Amino acid sequence: MTYMEESKKQLEALLQKDTIRILAIESSCDETAAAIVENGRVIVSNCVFSQIDMHALYGGVVPEIASRAHVEKVNRMVNEALSKANMALSDVDAIACTYGPGLVGALLIGVSCAKALAFAAKKPLIPVNHIEGHICANFLTHQELQPPFACLVVSGGHSHLFSVEDYGKYRIIGCTQDDAAGEAFDKAARVLNIPYPGGPLLDKLAEEGNPEALKLPRPHTEGKYDYSFSGLKTAFINAVHNMRQKNIAFSDADLAASFRKAVVDMLADKAMQAAKDLKLNCMVLAGGVSANSLLRREMQARCDRLGIPLYMPKLSLCGDNAAMIGSAAYYRLKNGELADLSLNAKPALRL
Ligand code: KG4
Ligand code: ZN
Repeated sequence: MTYMEESKKQLEALLQKDTIRILAIESSCDETAAAIVENGRVIVSNCVFSQIDMHALYGGVVPEIASRAHVEKVNRMVNEALSKANMALSDVDAIACTYGPGLVGALLIGVSCAKALAFAAKKPLIPVNHIEGHICANFLTHQELQPPFACLVVSGGHSHLFSVEDYGKYRIIGCTQDDAAGEAFDKAARVLNIPYPGGPLLDKLAEEGNPEALKLPRPHTEGKYDYSFSGLKTAFINAVHNMRQKNIAFSDADLAASFRKAVVDMLADKAMQAAKDLKLNCMVLAGGVSANSLLRREMQARCDRLGIPLYMPKLSLCGDNAAMIGSAAYYRLKNGELADLSLNAKPALRL
């Protein structure tokens, strides 16, 4: 029997089981992670090795350093996830990995590791889209959450507005035409000499500043629900350079607060407009930037005003992790979506 024939046979048996436990691996950017997730909803173990300190020196992720660190850490993370769950590899029902989008060299490590484990342990292999993983972090946080809902996915590499019509069924309503929201936060932070990744520290600094101190543009986009952060970022960087050249005193906290307000206004305006126009009466946030404190407050206030519920991942699940991949994998498995051993990394994979 070939590997795929064996996987399909196992799938039939798995679909009859009450409890399915998936070992998931995530390595799309600068976090090496492994987790065990039960029925897409319960985290049994969740291990993350963050490479941030290795990249901070260079002001951003260095792909070669990321790949090397993934190679060094991936087996350790898998073993940790298994041992924290009190499980052996033979106890897991299937193995999942992120296969895109992300850095090709980084993705390849997780994909290769998952394929080797799936082959050795004769387990089905489930390919997962990283963006879908971010959305599914909400299923681990809110047991009652079910599609349909609108989802704003904002991270270092992506800014998308989706209509999630069912498990695994996504319709793009809007997306960024240039930079992602997290990328814009990181670049604005860099000009204020905040170390990489600047988003979380800029957020903290902004709490003490006046968001009205610096007037910033709200760029226009062609698509009604599309985003654009590049013009805003450039306007911000130019304003800071200008003040420095002219020796005009300014407060970093005021600048951070003004920039954060501009980004959050833009994200919230379009997401709420889409919810109203398209009658999407449940809103969900996802991705690294969904940890932003103003975005969380502002979206909560606006959803309360509109009378629709808002769901956000708990803070520990906003950034990259493997538990969210294990959740997404469960719903892919339920749909019978398995990969064979020719699975490859897809750096520009879309949802
Ligand atoms: O989802 P994520 O961990 O990785 C990607 O898939 O890209 O997102 C990382 C991004 C970084 O740009 C980081 O600066 C940003 O999320 N981020 C934040 C905050 N926490 C993380 N941006 C603004 N405010 C935050 N609190
Ligand atoms: Zn991510």
